[in-house]
Amino acid sequence: MAKILSQKFYDQMKKLEPRYPNKVALLLPALHQAQEESGWLPPEVMEEIGEYIGIHPAQVREVASFYTMYNLKPVGKYHLKVCTNVACCLRGADEIVEHLEKKWNIRCGETTADRKFTLMEEECLGACGTAPAMMLNDDYHENLDIPAIEKIVAGLA
Ligand code: FES
Repeated sequence: MAKILSQKFYDQMKKLEPRYPNKVALLLPALHQAQEESGWLPPEVMEEIGEYIGIHPAQVREVASFYTMYNLKPVGKYHLKVCTNVACCLRGADEIVEHLEKKWNIRCGETTADRKFTLMEEECLGACGTAPAMMLNDDYHENLDIPAIEKIVAGLA
């Protein structure tokens, strides 16, 4: 199988290897690094990770599909993950999601046709005290309401 993952990926894994008890324990960092390179985790990438670590691709997929931070399909340039767990829900997270769904004419879990925005619901982000919260790519945004989300989205080129 032709390699898809970069030399940078393999160099990074080599650097991390001594910190872990065995190669299988490298699975989460490997998924992170691979996703950073491609933006998501295509099946061929998971296969290559399985080959590198020495486990079946199904085991890689099992782990990747357990965590919402791993993208199993392509996402837009801006990936919004709005927490809709209890604290955020009580403070208007559902209205925010509904607002964005209407604005972009997509449903949660979908990406806009121009591939600019992906909207997702997320479980508790650990920011309940400043609910509602969301992640925009790797950044946190808290104390959201509709004007705040509009301002954030308007600033995205
Ligand atoms: S419930 Fe939304 S951050 Fe905890």
